[in-house]
Amino acid sequence: MPKELININHIKRYFPVKNNFGQVKTIVKAIDDVSLSIYQGETLGLVGESGSGKTTLGRSVLQLETIDEGAIYYKETDLTSLKKKDKSKWLKEMQIIFQDPYSSLNPRLTAIELVLEPLLLQFDATEARKKAEAILEKVGFTEEMFTKYPKEFSGGQRQRIGIARAVVTEPEFILCDEPISALDVSIQAQVINLLIDLQKELGLTYLFISHDLSMVRYISDRIAVMYLGKIVELGPTEEIFSHPQHDYTKKLLQAVPIPDPKKAREAMANASNQLTKEIDLDQQTEWVEVSPNHFVLKER
Ligand SMILES: Nc1ncnc2c1ncn2[C@@H]1O[C@H](COP(=O)(O)OP(=O)(O)O)[C@@H](O)[C@H]1O
Ligand SMILES: [Mg+2]
Repeated sequence: MPKELININHIKRYFPVKNNFGQVKTIVKAIDDVSLSIYQGETLGLVGESGSGKTTLGRSVLQLETIDEGAIYYKETDLTSLKKKDKSKWLKEMQIIFQDPYSSLNPRLTAIELVLEPLLLQFDATEARKKAEAILEKVGFTEEMFTKYPKEFSGGQRQRIGIARAVVTEPEFILCDEPISALDVSIQAQVINLLIDLQKELGLTYLFISHDLSMVRYISDRIAVMYLGKIVELGPTEEIFSHPQHDYTKKLLQAVPIPDPKKAREAMANASNQLTKEIDLDQQTEWVEVSPNHFVLKER
């Protein structure tokens, strides 16, 4: 049995949306009663259209978003109940890789300085330097690249710095929030393969958010499908692709074979716009295991 690293237990996050007069107009249910486990060493893919709540869910795990209800357990400790200073030791074990490494990298620091930054909080200068050089080499940098600035690198190289920064302090869990979406299609696979190699070598656990289903299929052990703040389906990757059960999952998968990512995204947006009218999630309250480890939200 794989060991549970993270347990998300009935969490909710609602955002009030105000009109021009400052009155609350509607409530956006960004996370609407989500429960989910993430197991040690796995990659859990999280898919769903833009606005379905994926980022809010991922950030909640890292305590970057407060939740209104529920609990988030990390190694059986409820992080949401801890004081800030008690949380920090657990939060050290979690890192994030962003979609756009450029905006998350300080332009005034060189590649090696960027990787040294998190290390110097934990190690002395000599040891930090050794670790920084080792990880930069591992992500494919040669020594003469160490002292270059973010603007001198390509998008893919910048994302490699972002990845090096995330893994260099040896975390257990990494939230990858659309880590390849901003990259050139030709280098997306390289970056994915780097993430897979690092996972094997360092025993990392990933929550991998993406709307690129073919990439998610390639990297994920299991897939969770999110729609309107709810997880509507969850299961082993090949099971989700070969026997999708929820209408929303089926629509998502229909958008897959379109090779042009821009068109695929449009098709997905269109499909889900139609679905908003067709699927009434309010009626779907039963979480049913349809085959081993494959769960679907169904009408009671
Ligand atoms: N800080 C916020 N204030 C108000 N609404 C928010 C905030 N953060 C997210 N939302 C809303 O919550 C919903 C889910 O957003 P998000 O988690 O970013 O979705 P995704 O990552 O799937 O695109 C969206 O409707 C978004 O507009
Ligand atoms: Mg997002």
